[in-house]
Amino acid sequence: MKNNREIGIGIVGAGFLAETRARCYARVAGVPSRVVAVVDTVDERAEAYARQHSIPKWLTDYRELLELPEVDLVDLCVPNHLHRPMTEAAASAGKHIVCTKPLTAYVGQDLPAETSDQDISARDRREMLRVAVGDAEAMVEAVDKAGVLLMYGENWIYSPSVVKATDLMLESKGTILEMRGGECHCGSHSPFSKIWRYTGGGALIRLGAHPIGAMIHLKHQEGMNRDGVPIRPVSVSAEVGDLSKIPSLVAEKEEWVARGWQDVENWASAIITFQDGSRGIVWASDAVLGGMESRLEIFMSNAQFKCNLSPNNMLQAFSPDAAVFGDAYIMEKNETKAGWSTPMPDEDWTSGHLAMCQAFVEAVSKEQPARTDGRLGLEVVRTVYSAYCSAVEGRRVELS
Ligand SMILES: NC(=O)c1ccc[n+]([C@@H]2O[C@H](COP(=O)([O-])OP(=O)(O)OC[C@H]3O[C@@H](n4cnc5c(N)ncnc54)[C@H](O)[C@@H]3O)[C@@H](O)[C@H]2O)c1
Repeated sequence: MKNNREIGIGIVGAGFLAETRARCYARVAGVPSRVVAVVDTVDERAEAYARQHSIPKWLTDYRELLELPEVDLVDLCVPNHLHRPMTEAAASAGKHIVCTKPLTAYVGQDLPAETSDQDISARDRREMLRVAVGDAEAMVEAVDKAGVLLMYGENWIYSPSVVKATDLMLESKGTILEMRGGECHCGSHSPFSKIWRYTGGGALIRLGAHPIGAMIHLKHQEGMNRDGVPIRPVSVSAEVGDLSKIPSLVAEKEEWVARGWQDVENWASAIITFQDGSRGIVWASDAVLGGMESRLEIFMSNAQFKCNLSPNNMLQAFSPDAAVFGDAYIMEKNETKAGWSTPMPDEDWTSGHLAMCQAFVEAVSKEQPARTDGRLGLEVVRTVYSAYCSAVEGRRVELS
């Protein structure tokens, strides 16, 4: 900050993501900063979060948070439909903003409140694309007008393996020919993730947004570094599906992979074509056992990288019985502690969340854009909803 005072962070929403943020902001080094307030519409949640993380103020109304002079940066850890209105309000109040992925989503925001879940998820995909991209563009416009930062919370781009691969890729001056990346696990157990009106889609937007963001960022960096011009995605073809409806699985008693999906896909695959003809192959699934899988492979004209965000073999452990490790945490979405496992020594570090929070606080301190901004979030939204169009139309869709 210009006056060198402590940067005050306001957390919005005290749920799942906010826990990661609290741990990571507490570890920011070299820049005086602190979480000064939290807001959640559920008062017990806000109060418990404030107590647990020693935060001086808790509130239930977002507008009150924006009035606090000690808040310089708001971090939106709230459901997708609130990202646009909260970003616009924060920008008007002169606060810098962190918005998690996805930057925006189509959740029926252009339809009357009484519209049924079914009518929302059945909406024409081209309309979804128009509305979601329109929201994302409005967010970018609002922050540009207000002169504040909008930082896009894509942790993959800050993960140690992707950062190192990016540095080596830039050093090599080579051409990225193909990328393959995906995020999979045994399925979200949040009831909201199974309904389009709350998430704006299924596995593609919830999980696939990560590799899509990383791929768009990498090709952008490659182009800027070598030729001074970004290499953009130009088209996408995709398929989506509900693997939990496969008849033999329906007949099985054990529910190892999540079921009960109302109107969203739990499996998706997309091929993104970039301006120079290179390709990104994306997959996302809520039907994969073995713990959280987040991987990105980069195939270049002069190098190859395999980024293992999760799991990785930093630590391999064996126990003959699941009870041996008691209540100890192993890794996200791990089904069992028996047999071989890969306990994660520091998931906040390997996932990139830690470096991302550090980078965001530094960006506010220097009043300079972060590596991931609203424009990247906008490109991800455009790619995701164009992929949904492709899946329904059964053909490749140009990114307008
Ligand atoms: N790796 C990642 O980047 C990652 C991981 C998980 C979730 N997310 C994103 O984070 C966002 C939140 O997901 P989550 O899993 O933490 O959800 P969650 O349901 O666990 O938490 C959301 C919280 O927001 C609160 N809330 C709702 N409306 C509010 C309002 N008007 N004002 C203040 N608080 C309000 C809810 O009470 C709840 O406590 C979503 O956009 C999701 O896509 C990102």
